[in-house]
Amino acid sequence: MCGIVGYIGSRKAIPIVLNGLKNLEYRGYDSAGIAYRVNNKIEIKKEQGKLDNLVEKVNPDKETFTAIGHTRWATHGKPSVVNAHPHHVGKITLVHNGIIENYDEIKKMLNYATKGETDSEVLAAYINYLYQEEKDILKVLHQLQKNIKGSYALGIIVDNDDAIYCLRKDSPLIVGIGEKENFIASDVPAILDYTKNYYILDNGDYGKITKDEITIYHDGKEVKKEKLVFEFDIASAQKNNYEHFMLKEIHEQKEVLYNTLKSYEKSTLPDLNKYDGITIIGCGSAYYVGMCVKDALEKNLNIKVDVEIASEFRYKRVFFSKKHLVILISQSGETADTLASLMKAKTLGVDTLAIVNVVGSSIARETKDVLYIKAGVEKAVATTKAFTCQLLLLLMLISQDNKYKEFDNLINDVEMALSKEQDIKELAKKVYEHDDVFFLGRLGDYAMCLEGSLKLKEVSYIHSEAYAAGELKHGTISLIEEGTPVIAIITDKEIADKTVSNVKEVKARGAYTIVITNQDVPKDIADDLIKIDLEAVYLPIIVIIYLQILAYYVAVNRGCEIDKPRNLAKSVTVE
Ligand code: F6R
Repeated sequence: MCGIVGYIGSRKAIPIVLNGLKNLEYRGYDSAGIAYRVNNKIEIKKEQGKLDNLVEKVNPDKETFTAIGHTRWATHGKPSVVNAHPHHVGKITLVHNGIIENYDEIKKMLNYATKGETDSEVLAAYINYLYQEEKDILKVLHQLQKNIKGSYALGIIVDNDDAIYCLRKDSPLIVGIGEKENFIASDVPAILDYTKNYYILDNGDYGKITKDEITIYHDGKEVKKEKLVFEFDIASAQKNNYEHFMLKEIHEQKEVLYNTLKSYEKSTLPDLNKYDGITIIGCGSAYYVGMCVKDALEKNLNIKVDVEIASEFRYKRVFFSKKHLVILISQSGETADTLASLMKAKTLGVDTLAIVNVVGSSIARETKDVLYIKAGVEKAVATTKAFTCQLLLLLMLISQDNKYKEFDNLINDVEMALSKEQDIKELAKKVYEHDDVFFLGRLGDYAMCLEGSLKLKEVSYIHSEAYAAGELKHGTISLIEEGTPVIAIITDKEIADKTVSNVKEVKARGAYTIVITNQDVPKDIADDLIKIDLEAVYLPIIVIIYLQILAYYVAVNRGCEIDKPRNLAKSVTVE
């Protein structure tokens, strides 16, 4: 969602902030803006649409050494120049990520006539109002927190004061530490071209950033923050020679799965045997990770494992025993609904374990235990490498072997799946012109269908649905026409015959069938057969890699904007 970048130092600020925003583009946005100080006056430029529209309008050579920039993903008010950030009211110029829930109340109290429709503009007016009274912006940032409701990461510049001020609650914000220059940003990739060192702000932290000094406060007192160093290779946040981040990240799976496998000795992982029930919670693909491992966990632990959509769980009535474990899955560690589910689980007094990619993210810090996958920076909006690493880590948790013997061939098999790229690329040519695609499978195979279908629809914009194979004839089969692509996944030996029958039913009605299987299915059920000769606990990882490649090439054939599909955001920090 919205991206914030701020720079103060001795280099020209505009190119640095624009480059930072470019590196946050993956978060998703629909307008962009920048504010900078020239000869002690604040200038603001804003544009709707792509960041390049803004880049064209701004002179990078301006003699300015302090700037804040923003990419906005519309929540309150449509994407437009007036709604874009930064907002300037009185002496305050501000960029905001989050939602101010009581902005209407504040607006009425201020009797302020807004130019646009955003909560952020009202917030700028409110801060300016408090600043007129208080004259000390740090005191204002402290006081403000008592009076505003919602989530906010703020970057602020004040007229006639050469500093950047910041404040954070429930929306991510880091402070980058440089040499005679410092930064604020929503996420580490924004600053990696300049520094690997940063602080993470906690909820309620606010601070003053100058060229030479970073001072962070909490509740009116100065606090010392722990300096963090970005641990991944910077190249992991760049596209290298790949046309899209999505393809690069699909290929990186060999390496990041290996890193994840090697990152935890079995004896250091939490013992799940002590629980009498587990609930796995996530959104979108993270939810499907849970669906994909549910069966394996239940078989292994002999307890009930439920998988819940975070946005549902947070409002649901639940009945947990004290020996219940809630597992939160999140790549970003910032997803608002998953974070709210974690907070709910904590109030219920049960153990919480988060499986997260982004180090120091909100979910990672709020949970009782955290296990980090080693996926590196994932920039394509559609998750690929984080998905399979999360799957692997959950399977490692139930491994019976101290040396994870069952994963000995994982990396070879991933390599094998990646080597089929050209074949799948050909297959994509048979799919991309269709308007509807169906995925069929049962139980664990159905879970893989859900992820395959989501991947396809989000990047290619083809309408696609995953169906529990037995459900089809209760309505959906009426949608099957001559040539409708149906992708069936058949890897569960015990119910393979049942899914085979369902594939026959759609084939009899003219469907074009692609069957992905490790079973000996009748050849005539498949127009195209992808045979994976593998029986392994990690088979879902291999199947999902095929489906990721398929989704990618279907989207390529349709000329879609693969890394940043329309309307989507990488890090969904609002409800
Ligand atoms: C789909 C996708 C999303 C995310 C979901 C949760 O490709 O990436 O469905 O999985 O928004 O995000 P995280 O994992 O950051 O909580």
